[in-house]
Order: sequence, then structure tokens, then C-alpha cells
Amino acid sequence: PQLPIDQADIDSLSPVLKEELERLKSIFYVSTRKLIEISEQFEKELQDGLDNYGSNISMNVTWVLGWPDGHECGNFLTTDLGGTNLRVCWIKLTERHGETNVIQQEYRLADELKTGESDALFDFIATSLGDFIEKHKLGGTKEDPLKLGFTFSYPAHQDYIDHGKLVTWTKGLEIKGVEGEDAAGLLRQAMAKRDLPIHLVALINDTTGAMIASAYNDPETIVGAIFGTGCNGAYMEDVGSIHKLKTDLPDDTPMAINCEYGAFDNAHNVLPRTEYDIQIDEESPKPGEQAFEKMSAGLYLGEIYRLVVVDLYEKGLIFKDQDASKMRNPYILDTGFLSGIENDTSPGMADTKRAFIEKLGFEATPEQLIFSQKLAEYIAVRGARLCTCGIAAICRKKGIKKGHVAADGSVANKHPNFKRRWANAMGEVLGWPVDRKEDPITITSAEDGSGIGAAVIAAMTLKREKEGQT
Ligand code: GLC
Repeated sequence: PQLPIDQADIDSLSPVLKEELERLKSIFYVSTRKLIEISEQFEKELQDGLDNYGSNISMNVTWVLGWPDGHECGNFLTTDLGGTNLRVCWIKLTERHGETNVIQQEYRLADELKTGESDALFDFIATSLGDFIEKHKLGGTKEDPLKLGFTFSYPAHQDYIDHGKLVTWTKGLEIKGVEGEDAAGLLRQAMAKRDLPIHLVALINDTTGAMIASAYNDPETIVGAIFGTGCNGAYMEDVGSIHKLKTDLPDDTPMAINCEYGAFDNAHNVLPRTEYDIQIDEESPKPGEQAFEKMSAGLYLGEIYRLVVVDLYEKGLIFKDQDASKMRNPYILDTGFLSGIENDTSPGMADTKRAFIEKLGFEATPEQLIFSQKLAEYIAVRGARLCTCGIAAICRKKGIKKGHVAADGSVANKHPNFKRRWANAMGEVLGWPVDRKEDPITITSAEDGSGIGAAVIAAMTLKREKEGQT
């Protein structure tokens, strides 16, 4: 087969495979009407999260009070706990459009840490910070410590900007003793044990970081979104609309909200879940949580694909009599695998054929290659279409008609078709004219949220403190 695969290729499949492909196409298909229904329910859940604590979408207040003015500057240390690495940066911020100087280093997060104990995790972060400041001779003293912005991209309940109680781990992490605890406090303790001359100024979510880093240079930024391992968004609300929040701040004070909308529809009211989505959820460390994320984020797309392959193998429809042991390993397929299949331009889909052998241990026939490509497309299209619903709901709720969605994450950046699919679905939900010359709301590549974003937020926080507006 040769891409693009057309109807004639599909018609060339054996009747059983063709029928199976039709079934998969229909279960992964999300119509315009369904997208609208999901977005409407989404809007209700966003509102509920602003009104009540303990709502499904938690709509966390971040204490990032407003947009950057572009004059934020200074030197900052930042660190970002991702799912595979810990990134540490030293950032020299020199006003909007100025040269921002970044030194950075990644520290690999060993697998034992991801399921280990709290102390081991925070000791590792503190040790890495210590190593970094020593290696780069960054100085810092007890009297004049280095200022740190800590990106912690999990649902955290914040009473202050330099505090964040982890509500629940997401994205497969299972470190014991952190849920219900203040992650900033735990890091502070670990740094104190080592006498590190570091002052933790702000704990931030990656979505808020993406939004603020992008707004630092682009005033048209409306939302910060991550379409990556997880799926989530942040936007700017007015304090007066956050009914659950008791505060003396004036009603018109802007406050960034980290929605935590990966948890949308945990009650399973509207999302069109397939048997494979149900299985992913049941076999995950946190069944019943992050329903939306499990259908749309990079961590899960490859796993959905694998579960379909396993199912078809069990039914005797594909790869008959081949060794299935490799295929049995959960989470072996990443988003790169899916986008690779969809965009394979090698003659006879040789690259896909090789990837199947390497990752799954299967020799695919030409017919199975056609099938596998279409399946990758159905899963990715569904993910991209669902990804619009959260942002469409924010835009509808706030009456936002145009602007930039500053997006980061592997799905947004590495899947070449994602942005086009997302824009099409956004147009369907928001009713943009089909013959429009340009899209009023577009995805832009976010600036470095956990580096520059964390630094800008730390600078904004210090400025407020200096002006006595804590
Ligand atoms: C998960 C986290 C959230 C984060 C998102 C993207 O949904 O709970 O905090 O923003 O992943 O990384």
C-alpha cells in the first residue's frame, strides 16, 4: 500500500476485516452534534467548578493575578517535574522581546521513583537542584537566595501561590505519601536538609506557565493548553466569578484558573466511551478518574491502539499464529508510533511494517498495513476533535471570539495533522462559516511554560510582594 490510503484500498480488504474496520470507524467517530453536546456539558462542569469546591472539574485558583506586562525581568531558577525527566533551568529574563537566556539540564526520573516514596522523589529534586547550581556556579546565599519557580503539573489545591496540596496523582504517577500534602512544602524541606540557598517563590501548573509565557510576548493569548501526556487548559477569570473563593480581592481582579479538565465527565454522562476506553480506565492506577484525559491525551492514544490490536488478535482477525508476547505489554506504543503510521511515506509502508515488527513483534501483510493506518487515523482524529471541547467551552463561557490558544505537548507538536483537525472541529462547535478565510481562534506554539512561564510568574509574584499586595 501507498499513502494516502483511499477507498479502493479499503475495498480491497477481506470482507471480515472491512467489516471490522467499519465497526471501529463508527465507534471512534464523534459527530458535530456530539461535539456540541459535549461542549455544552463541559461548560456546565466548568461553571460548577467555579461555584463549588469538590466539583468534578476542580477549576483551581492559581494566585497568578493577571497578565504579565512584559517588563518582568530578573534571574530565576525553575524546575519542572515531568513524567520522564526533571528539567532544571536558569533563566535571565530581560523584558518582552528581549534576549532571554536559558541554561538547562534534564535529570532522568528513574522508574523506581515514579512508584516509590515521597521522600525519595523530593530528595531527588533537591539533589538535582543542588547539582545544577553548583555546576553552573549560580551562587545564592541564605540572605539572598536564588528564586525558584516550581512547575508541578498535577492537580494542586493552592491557598497561596507558593503552596500546592496535591489532590490526586494523574498521568500514571503513583508516588506514595504526596496526595493530600503540600508539594511546595515537601520540596522546601528537602532543600532545607541540604542547606540549599533557594527560595521557592511559586508553584505553577504547566498550563498556566504556557499561558503566561506566551502572553509575555503575545497579547492575543487567551488560553494556555497542554495536549501532551495529559490534557488540560488554563485561562484568566475574574475573581468575582469564582463564587467558591472567599477573598478580599476586588471582583474585577484577574485570576488564572488551572481548570484540570482532564477530569471532565468522570460521571460518564456524555463522552462516547468505547469498550477500549473502559478497559484503559479499569486497568489504570486510578479507575474512575481523568475520563476525558484518558480519551484524548498522548499517554493513552497508543494504549487505545494496542488494546484494539489485542482484541482483534484474540478474535483471530489479524496476525494469526504469530507470537503475541510483545503485544501484551501495556503502554508500549506512544503517540510517535501512531503519527508515524499515519504519515508513513515510505514505499509500501515499509516504515510501518518495521515498526510493527519492532514494537509488537508482528509481520504485517499489505492488507494489515492498510488496516493499521486507518485505525491510527480514527483514534487520532477522535482525540483531536475531543480536545476542542474544553477550549470551546471556555471560549463560550467567557464570550471569547478570537485569539490564540498557546499549546504545548507532544500531541500538539509532533502530530502533523492535529492542528488542522482541531481547527475543523472548533469551527463545527463554534459555528464558524465553512468558507472562512481564516480561523478566528488558532493554536499557537506555546513559549516555554515551565521555564520562561515559571520565571515570569515568579517575577510577577516578587513584584506584588514588594508592592505589599500579597
Ligand atoms: C494532567 C494534570 C494537569 C496537567 C496536564 C498536562 O491533566 O493533572 O495538572 O496540566 O496533565 O500536563
